[in-house]
Formats: sequence, C-alpha cells, structure tokens
Amino acid sequence: MTTSNLAVAERDTFTPTNEIDPRELRNTLGLFATGVTVVTAPGLDGKPVGITANSFSSLSLDPPLVLWSLALKSSNVGLFKEGNPFAINILGAHHQELALQFARPMPDKFQDVEFETNTHGVPLLKGAQGHLECTVSFTQELGDHLLIVGRVDAIASEPCDPLLFYRGTFARLLSE
Ligand SMILES: Cc1cc2nc3c(=O)[nH]c(=O)nc-3n(C[C@H](O)[C@H](O)[C@H](O)COP(=O)(O)O)c2cc1C
Repeated sequence: MTTSNLAVAERDTFTPTNEIDPRELRNTLGLFATGVTVVTAPGLDGKPVGITANSFSSLSLDPPLVLWSLALKSSNVGLFKEGNPFAINILGAHHQELALQFARPMPDKFQDVEFETNTHGVPLLKGAQGHLECTVSFTQELGDHLLIVGRVDAIASEPCDPLLFYRGTFARLLSE
C-alpha cells in the first residue's frame, strides 16, 4: 500500500462510529486469548522503559518481522522511532506480578526486577521464556495507537508454562 493509499484507508476505516459499543468491543476482543509480553527499551533519560503488552504478534518469517501497538497516550511513544532498538520479553506463568508491575505507571518499574542489558542498552528480563531483540523498522499512527513493526536481530528462548491473558484477566494453560 502506498503512503497516500494508507492515508485514504486510515480516513475511511478509522472514522469514529457510534455503531459499535466500546464495552462490547472490548468484551469481544477479550475472547481472543493471547500471551503476555513486556516490551523494553532504553529510555531517553538513561532509565530503562518497560511496558506490558499483549498486542504483540508475529508478522513475517523472511525477513523476520514482529508487530505490536502502543497507546498514543503513553509517555513512551517518542521512543519507538525507525532505527531505535527494543526487545520483546515473552512472559512465563510465574510472571503475573511482573506483568502488573509493568502495566502500572510507577517512578521505577524496574525495582526488584532482574535483567541484563544488551549492547544497545535494551533490558532483557531474566527468567522470560524468550527474548526477541529488535530494531524499529516502521511505525504508523492508526486510531488511538501507534503500530510498531520491528525487525528481529537476535533471539533467545527458554520455554516454560506461558502467562496468558483472556477476557480481561490472567490465565494459565491447564496441563493434564
Ligand atoms: C495484559 C496487558 C496487556 C496490555 N497490552 C498493551 C498493549 O498491547 N499496548 C499498550 O499500549 N498498552 C497495553 N497495556 C497497558 C500498558 O501496560 C500500561 O498502560 C502501561 O502503564 C503503559 O506504560 P507507559 O505509560 O509507561 O508507557 C496492557 C496491560 C495489560 C495488563
């Protein structure tokens, strides 16, 4: 899609409508069970940034691309510009408290959180099931969110029971 086509699609598709009840929309979207990630990035003031996000999805295998979206009201929107580094930390079932910690505005979200920092200054959370170290390759404001597409530069995984999010609450896989 060219930029001008995208602009037209945006105008047509994202015109506010009162035909859809927002609560019903949330409830219906919540039926789609997801995993839970914390997106991390180096902050502008040297303080690391972490945001709990379940909008994460794979986009392409070749080249390796992933996507997620960030609410435009977030104070961290300015960090996700083309070329900037970030990481997706895929959480395990034992990470529910961590997911809540990174979902609340706090002066220091990394308090008591164990992490390493990669060569680009991106925090990688210890004990996460997987890390995808990325570079922002494309962004687009759509509706009330910023769509962020990242190129995956490095990966690591240590699978365990996943943390899930379903119908507005955390969930776990039932194992036999
Ligand atoms: C399970 C879960 C998933 C979330 N997914 C997203 C998401 O995909 N995008 C987003 O912008 N906020 C999401 N949030 C809300 C953010 O984590 C929350 O607003 C956070 O405080 C944003 O951090 P910031 O304001 O420091 O940028 C999610 C929250 C939870 C609990």
